[in-house]
Amino acid sequence: MEHANQTMVTFFIIKGISSLPSLQVLIFLLVVLIYLSTLGGNVTILLLVCLDHHLHTPMYYFLANLSILDISSSTVTLHKIIGSFITGEKKVSYASCLIQFYIFSCLSCSELLILTAMSYDRYVAICKPLRYSVIMNCKVCVLLSVVCWVISFIEVVPYLALLSKFSCYKSNVINHFFCDFVPLLNLSCSETSTLKLLSLLEGLLLLSFTPFLLTFTPYVFIIASILRIQSNIGRRKAFYTCSSHLTVVVLLYATLVCQYLRPITADSLESNKLFSLFNTAAVPMLNPLIYSLKNRDVQSSLRKRLKHLKYW
Ligand SMILES: *[C@@H]1O[C@H](CO)[C@@H](O)[C@H](O)[C@H]1NC(C)=O
Repeated sequence: MEHANQTMVTFFIIKGISSLPSLQVLIFLLVVLIYLSTLGGNVTILLLVCLDHHLHTPMYYFLANLSILDISSSTVTLHKIIGSFITGEKKVSYASCLIQFYIFSCLSCSELLILTAMSYDRYVAICKPLRYSVIMNCKVCVLLSVVCWVISFIEVVPYLALLSKFSCYKSNVINHFFCDFVPLLNLSCSETSTLKLLSLLEGLLLLSFTPFLLTFTPYVFIIASILRIQSNIGRRKAFYTCSSHLTVVVLLYATLVCQYLRPITADSLESNKLFSLFNTAAVPMLNPLIYSLKNRDVQSSLRKRLKHLKYW
């Protein structure tokens, strides 16, 4: 093991997205814009689901859960970029770096699991429509969402334990815009290549592939059942009830696959950062947009609320 230039780390320096000064203002403005639209869109969804009793169904409750996740995860990842541009402070303490990693990872896992629960909800709605309100009753929904939240907060603990074992780092400059697993692993001076491979494989299998299978299996039954519907209108109506969810899920897994398929070497980190920014910032912004653009219930509820506002 190399002991020459190891450092005991008490704080990290977050390098940010680009070191080019000319790009910094542009990126800052972009990030602020994305963050504000994420807040605006998701808060709107939350308010609509709370206020409008037409939207008091399992699907929209889960959607509200998703909005909370989107707001929290973009706050966790983006607050440092925005803050450090304003204050110029790029330091974060060792503890808050690990906390950021932990919370961000938990939220990402929850997002995948809530989308899995939504997929099951769509399955019941389309394949067992007559028993929908019996199967997806209040208790089941609350149980499902609590399980999703709890599992994801437990799932990430081994990774946190692993990272906190490293006491020695080659440098304390994180070449990323927040404390994520791979950038931290790359900095550690222990022999990490097998560890990296193992943890990534396990992460891929446990945290992404399992929810992926559980999310898309119901769609096999959903599509089979949609194809069995005789009338064109009925078929379109059935597809329509799950199209927003399917769009969100496909978008999310497509970006995940792209991220995992890129080589995870240190020199590709540079280009990875912009991509990762898309993943962590743009996806939470797009979720409420997809639901409000594609979904007539959300649209009509929004229109009603806006009309109310005008009369006030
Ligand atoms: C999250 O989902 C559960 C179960 O559907 C629901 O009871 C709860 O109200 C949701 N949370 C929010 C903030 O809507």
